[in-house]
Amino acid sequence: MIIDIITIFPEMFTSFLSTSIVKRAIELEQITVNLHQLRDYSHNKHRNIDDTPYGGGVGMLMTFPPIYDAIMSLKKENTKVIYLSPQGPILNQGMAFDLAKNEHLILLCGHYEGVDNRVLELVDYEISIGDYILTGGELPVMILIDVLARLVPGVILEESVVEDSLTDGLLKYPQYTKPRSYKGYDVPDVLLSGHHEEIAKWRKKMSLITTYEKRPDLLEKKDLTEEELLIVKSVKEK
Ligand SMILES: C[S@@+](CC[C@H](N)C(=O)[O-])C[C@H]1O[C@@H](n2cnc3c(N)ncnc32)[C@H](O)[C@@H]1O
Repeated sequence: MIIDIITIFPEMFTSFLSTSIVKRAIELEQITVNLHQLRDYSHNKHRNIDDTPYGGGVGMLMTFPPIYDAIMSLKKENTKVIYLSPQGPILNQGMAFDLAKNEHLILLCGHYEGVDNRVLELVDYEISIGDYILTGGELPVMILIDVLARLVPGVILEESVVEDSLTDGLLKYPQYTKPRSYKGYDVPDVLLSGHHEEIAKWRKKMSLITTYEKRPDLLEKKDLTEEELLIVKSVKEK
């Protein structure tokens, strides 16, 4: 996957792109990330890319021509253009799975009071990372790339993605590591039993219970089997 980022702060990405899973995805050539300074597309000698809004109002807006030129110079036949924006649907794992299938993404980072609305005519998706307002789109772009890097084949173990919280609409079961006991805090016996079938049953049950306790809204969206419904019912009745 090729990702072109349009930003006025390319330097914000330096450490992000050279760390951990994202670094590995780049080294494995599963993703290629190119940074583009929007000011390079400015139409004036001061390299300005913002101006006051027509009709008055607070703050500055990113102007249309540099963004138009940047997108048009990068766009190919299969490109999807994404504007990270608090006005889009909120990113979730299902959307991430769909986005990870694309060959080429252009990710536009807004700043100031956002962009001239004509930009939206060039955009395939607006995506928000949550119901709050950030200063710019750089952190949302990093979040989106981090999420996508996990899903691009070959970057992390496929089993790890399959077992991640939210992949099947549920939260992951609780996990423990050594030591098995510390100051009276113990690891559940079943995990030490070596009985794989029992462990799998326990994990399935705990995944449902954890989801019910922490994110009951997820259960409402999921078609539960008879067996799963019984488990949830038994927790509710406690
Ligand atoms: C200060 S915000 C502009 C908000 C705009 N005035 C509004 O009310 O919709 C500047 C930029 O940060 C980015 N941004 C802010 N919050 C975001 C969020 N929750 N998700 C994605 N991008 C966000 C967008 O790129 C936006 O253009």
